[in-house]
Amino acid sequence: MKNVVVFGSTGSIGRATLDVIDRNPGKFSVYGISACKQEGLLIRQIKKYRPKFAVFTEKNSEKSRVKTKKAKYLYGEDGLEFLATLPEVDIVVMAISGLAGLKCTLKALEAGKIVALATKEIIVCAGHLLTDKKGKILPVDSEHNAIFQILNRENSGVSSIILTASGGPFLNYKGDIKKVSPEQVLKHPVWKMGKRISVDSATMMNKGLEIIEAFYLFGVKKESIKVVLHPQAIVHGFVKFCDGFVKAVCSIPDMRYSINYCLNFPLRVDCGLPGLDVSKMRNLSFYDVRAGMFPCFDLAKEALKKAGSYLTVLNAADEESVKIFLEGLISFDKIPILIEKMLAKHKRVSVDTPDDILSLDFQIREKIRIEAGLCR
Ligand SMILES: NC(=O)c1ccc[n+]([C@@H]2O[C@H](COP(=O)([O-])OP(=O)(O)OC[C@H]3O[C@@H](n4cnc5c(N)ncnc54)[C@H](OP(=O)(O)O)[C@@H]3O)[C@@H](O)[C@H]2O)c1
Repeated sequence: MKNVVVFGSTGSIGRATLDVIDRNPGKFSVYGISACKQEGLLIRQIKKYRPKFAVFTEKNSEKSRVKTKKAKYLYGEDGLEFLATLPEVDIVVMAISGLAGLKCTLKALEAGKIVALATKEIIVCAGHLLTDKKGKILPVDSEHNAIFQILNRENSGVSSIILTASGGPFLNYKGDIKKVSPEQVLKHPVWKMGKRISVDSATMMNKGLEIIEAFYLFGVKKESIKVVLHPQAIVHGFVKFCDGFVKAVCSIPDMRYSINYCLNFPLRVDCGLPGLDVSKMRNLSFYDVRAGMFPCFDLAKEALKKAGSYLTVLNAADEESVKIFLEGLISFDKIPILIEKMLAKHKRVSVDTPDDILSLDFQIREKIRIEAGLCR
């Protein structure tokens, strides 16, 4: 029985991870879970999974402690770090959105843990700090999981890697993009995800972040990472080899496949998810992404060319712009405009430590609000 800690257990990936654990009876024990705002759901998860530890990252009521005596409580960033490094923990699933899990991910890797990493923000901003650690990262993101499945077996003669992108809800949209509402943006045609990643999928920033993620995870040249639009999201990634062969990894689009792969790695285990019926795969389509089609995607590629602190600026500017868009304070088309301004104004700074990254992240968020005219 492996002890698993699920950070961000109340989110979309966290809940999918708990479902995968349910589908693998006797193999995994939920050793720890964490939440930020969804206290009620965390309490229900504590009652169901009886973890040894539960981390609340926002101070919660005394009442909830009384109701759920079953787990030991930890609080805040210190609580995350403590739990991530306990000797009893075998696998850490990092699914906290944003950078709140950055330090704890680094600590877990330093402590030699297997980290099933969903949080792309951590790789984007701190990819350069994640290498050469005792532990191992297993990518949860479906595209990177696909590429990992291929490269982990065969890593020579690779000419390029290709990530697929569904294109989000506005791929063939004929209306006025300025007028799209948060509700329209959050309706992704294929994936059910958290709010920020749903908006990022609509702007294609998500795919831009994934190119950066792939760069740090796989150590390939920036220009060897490509993206194709593939609205059906059945093929998650391709690896092209120098002899003309191409390998692809496909599944029904559901994050539980890659989570199941990570939890059971290096074995393949049937957890009862349906297989892909290849005979029904009739209408798979693939298109190039043209420059100018998705401004956020282009901005991410430019930021990767500069790398270093520009990547934290990109991520923070995007996250805050998405937040204020969801609050109804700016229109959808303002998101890339604000990010572009932040990147243009930025002068490279050191991002050698997690604190450097977190401090820059904080500053850029403030600047975005000022730039958007929301505060002075
Ligand atoms: N969803 C997907 O299909 C998918 C696919 C690939 C990669 N990812 C990546 O996986 C990560 C999680 O995505 P998601 O869609 O699962 O997001 P989500 O549904 O918004 O869940 C985020 C989780 O993080 C917790 N959280 C948020 N802010 C926190 C903070 N400051 N401190 C501690 N915990 C905090 C939330 O707790 P509360 O809910 O209790 O507030 C929740 O458990 C993201 O980085 C995303 O890019 C997601």
